[in-house]
Amino acid sequence: QSQLPPSYTCRPIQRSDYHSGFLDVLRVLTTVGDVSEAQWNERYDWMSARNDEYFLLCILNGEDRIVGTGTLVVERKFIHNLGIVGHIEDIAVAKDQQGKKLGLRIIQALDFVAEKVGCYKSILDCSEANEGFYVKCGFKRAGLEMAHYY
Ligand code: ACO
Repeated sequence: QSQLPPSYTCRPIQRSDYHSGFLDVLRVLTTVGDVSEAQWNERYDWMSARNDEYFLLCILNGEDRIVGTGTLVVERKFIHNLGIVGHIEDIAVAKDQQGKKLGLRIIQALDFVAEKVGCYKSILDCSEANEGFYVKCGFKRAGLEMAHYY
């Protein structure tokens, strides 16, 4: 079920991934900006100190280049008997690597983590254009996104 192409691997993000193309993969998703290595390290360390809350995965090709990534943020609630909800964020596959089921594998891996840490559901926001992808990953349309930008 969860097989990557030969020589591809999946692992959690590492501090050294500043040099492995992590931010370049995210550029297929949206604006990343100019993130210095010091800024990367600071954010990485912040997330790393919350490693029961932030799960960032990446897929590497045979040459150790990051070609896909995805994030699970785990939210602890009071409602639903102290329920735990997974938020799937920032899914991106390098343009030249799309269509190889890497996106699907990232979602499957994040779903696995979400279930393992006790989430009763995982949710995400996406564009209409990506709805079909998430349906293939087992998600269904639920609710409506609202945003307030500051
Ligand atoms: N619409 C409908 N079906 C799709 C789409 C789409 N946009 N994209 C992929 N699929 C289908 C595939 O055809 C495949 O179907 P199959 O099993 O019948 O062959 C299945 O979904 C799995 O596709 P993958 O090969 O795993 O998709 P890919 O690796 O290309 O990743 C992704 C999909 C992540 C959307 C990729 O195209 C991408 O990075 N796009 C740009 C960034 C982006 O939009 N990310 C998602 C933002 S939303 C969020 O982050 C929560």
